[in-house]
Amino acid sequence: MPPALLKQDAALAALAWQIEAGADEAIGEEAVDRFARSAEAAEAKQRAEAQAQAQAEARDRAAAGRPPQREAARAPGGRQGFWEAAPAELRSGSDAVATARRLAAGARNVDELREALAGFDGCPLKQTATKLVFADGNPQARYMIVGEAPGPQEDRQGIPFVGPSGKLLDAMLAAIGLDRETAYITNMLFWRPPGNRTPTATEIATCLPFTERHIELVAPDYLMLVGGSSAKSLLGRSEGVLKLRGRWFHYQSPEMPRPIPALATLHPAYLLRQPAQKRLAWRDFLSFRAAFTSGGDPAA
Ligand code: URA
Repeated sequence: MPPALLKQDAALAALAWQIEAGADEAIGEEAVDRFARSAEAAEAKQRAEAQAQAQAEARDRAAAGRPPQREAARAPGGRQGFWEAAPAELRSGSDAVATARRLAAGARNVDELREALAGFDGCPLKQTATKLVFADGNPQARYMIVGEAPGPQEDRQGIPFVGPSGKLLDAMLAAIGLDRETAYITNMLFWRPPGNRTPTATEIATCLPFTERHIELVAPDYLMLVGGSSAKSLLGRSEGVLKLRGRWFHYQSPEMPRPIPALATLHPAYLLRQPAQKRLAWRDFLSFRAAFTSGGDPAA
């Protein structure tokens, strides 16, 4: 094969590799050396430090003759499911999670929470994302929608649900007489995972204190959890979203005066891939509208 063609093949292969790895669009004029601040290296470092800290704590407890601490006891809001499934270093509390909890707890309103997140470096996704994607809609809304994570368009604009999933979500809300003026919309993760991959347990755990505080500060009457990531992590459930959807649960975190009804439903991205499942989502949306209109608590 002529050298010129070999070069072209190699260039195409490198491009394909980059696309698979998540670098699927040009986001700036200048190339950035991502290797210099590798997200994975940062995550591994955090893990090692948290593990060392957990081991040191366990040694101290043993030396003081105290029994080993029950790890799940640290789960916020008493919801054990997510934390039981999380890696050990998260259950015992990594530095990043501890910092996230401290920063989130210190936020007295939504603006302060956004500022706290903007200054938080514990989630390695921040290194590869273009923008922080915090929230959209009305912070006074009676209901809050929590999705999974920003995609490419959200990453570019810094606004949740503005890509194809967002368009479908808007259409579904419109079908039950709702819109972004009446909703407050956010995600479990505030930065885009490269290549739209599924968020890891570490990423979810690191951002969870912010999402929990976000819900406390907005204090909606109803929650709509779109997709498995938000339904499972916020409700502490291990079932898949197809088992959870259509069901009402009570969501509560430590600072909330009372539990609020939360409906799990299918993610619009899933519905775009599986249009036949839209009928299930439609039932969920009707159930949401009925609750929202009556003001009742369907989870009671
Ligand atoms: N999918 C989500 O879960 N959130 C977004 O903001 C966009 C796509």
